[in-house]
Amino acid sequence: MGKEMRLDKYLADMGKGTRSQIKEAARKGRIQINGVIEKKPDTKVDPETDTIVFDGSVVSYVTMEYYMLNKPQGVVSATEDNKYQTVIDLIEGKNRKDLFPVGRLDIDTEGLLLITNDGPLAHRLLAPKKHVDKIYYAVCDGFVPDSAVPEFAEGILLPDGLKCLPAILEIISRKKEDGKALSEIKLTIREGKFHQVKRMMEAVGCPVIFLKRLTMGSLTLDETLKPGEYRSLTIEELELLNSL
Ligand code: URA
Repeated sequence: MGKEMRLDKYLADMGKGTRSQIKEAARKGRIQINGVIEKKPDTKVDPETDTIVFDGSVVSYVTMEYYMLNKPQGVVSATEDNKYQTVIDLIEGKNRKDLFPVGRLDIDTEGLLLITNDGPLAHRLLAPKKHVDKIYYAVCDGFVPDSAVPEFAEGILLPDGLKCLPAILEIISRKKEDGKALSEIKLTIREGKFHQVKRMMEAVGCPVIFLKRLTMGSLTLDETLKPGEYRSLTIEELELLNSL
């Protein structure tokens, strides 16, 4: 037998409303357990064996969810915001109400963001001591100097006093577009200080004008996802993350 839980918690966890809204729904006969209307919100149910129907649709109980999002610009990495759309708002197919983004990308940054309700996994990915690699692609103003490569490799000291951990800078291209010098780079960092990539590039005189995260640990952005699109992690992706 599985673990029993209260009917109202079951439905609240699955985002069907607050406990009091669910109590009201039960009173009105909108909830069924195994085909029988149940009016008591504190009735115990077994998520593994009982079938719960809410407003005519079966509601399965999901404990953990894992989504890979290609974060678009203009959306904030938060669970709630009173001004902007959040990354959680973009996950339309979600079941759990307790999803959160694992770490933050700036509002104008695109790319890989893991969305889950797995707290221990998030902790392992974000703990500063774990030094999980993150690879970013950026377009920067100006021609990034070759000297930035060894400076970053040694750990650059930022003008504001932050001493960065060693990072790998790859200069992909330096070209002029409409008379403007631009560089494309890839940067691998193993920490995640506030505006880290932007601050590092600024420190070598080449402010970031476009930033996208490509990887986080073993997880790589699925390039078939357009900005704003998401999918569930595969079993393989999840196993790799869990072996961290
Ligand atoms: N570094 C930044 O500057 N911004 C991000 O969003 C992520 C890393």
